Amino acid sequence: MKILVATEKPFAKKAVDGIRGIVEGAGYELSLLEKYTDKAQLLEAVADADALIIRSDKVTAEVIAAAKNLKIVVRAGAGYDNVDLAAATARGIVVMNTPGQNSNAVAELAIAMMIFMARNRFTPGTGSEIQGKTLGIHAYGNVGKLVGRKGRAMGMKVLAYDPFITDAAVFEADGVETVASVAELYKRSDYLSLHIPATAETKGSIGYELLMSMPKGATLVNTARKEVIDEEGLRRALAEREDLKYITDIAPANQAELDEQFGKRVFATAKKMGAETAEANINAGLAAASQIVDFFKNGTTRFQVNK
Ligand code: 3PG
Repeated sequence: MKILVATEKPFAKKAVDGIRGIVEGAGYELSLLEKYTDKAQLLEAVADADALIIRSDKVTAEVIAAAKNLKIVVRAGAGYDNVDLAAATARGIVVMNTPGQNSNAVAELAIAMMIFMARNRFTPGTGSEIQGKTLGIHAYGNVGKLVGRKGRAMGMKVLAYDPFITDAAVFEADGVETVASVAELYKRSDYLSLHIPATAETKGSIGYELLMSMPKGATLVNTARKEVIDEEGLRRALAEREDLKYITDIAPANQAELDEQFGKRVFATAKKMGAETAEANINAGLAAASQIVDFFKNGTTRFQVNK
């Protein structure tokens, strides 16, 4: 049984060592494809793989067609919008994620991004504090919850919106106020932290109207996906409101244009780094390996996302 780890953005060595330990300990073979630069390398590597561990690597219908023996794909992380679920399902391939395993790393980055923007991107001049400001959490999943808790610890008032959580006690337990609509969340948030997945419903859903409704001096923080942003709407809002700021872990397609037009009010990391901690790599990588072993040995399909 061959388990392929295909990571264009590789895991920390300690995580790879841990994955190897789990895979080989179960009597399987580990194959590594790291830092690949061409789709052809992935197509070749998956040809004889029974299982695949990936990060944001794109598992398209073409990749699935090339993987004749493939039975399971585990996205070591939360978002699985990089996997063609329909193509996998059509072949009977199980797709899983590892929810929660890299959430703390992403949540810490979201808080760091708020402070970075509040302090003028660490350049000279008077900044502001996040204490006392209102933080809106858009989607209260694993990352959103942690951002909310950390925001409260920093002295922020925390609001949240999540249409899939109907039990108010979930928010109450964290000292978080739940709001009734997306519109209300943006209208009241000095900092808005995005934690929605990229789906048909959410793509392009955050744009001009919501941004224009935010309080004076507001900052939108995106550690989710670039696809959820209506980039032209964002550009228009930034042009009309000189007080608005945007910081993102996933550079928009119009990044060069935004940089030129808005200077320090916009910032994007050079490469997505939310989950780039040794701890997150180890948590997610080892969970992925264990889930694969548990699937092959016991038929366990917990965390399957294409049921
Ligand atoms: C996730 O969905 O888990 C994060 O976006 C992390 O993605 P990465 O594994 O490519 O860093």
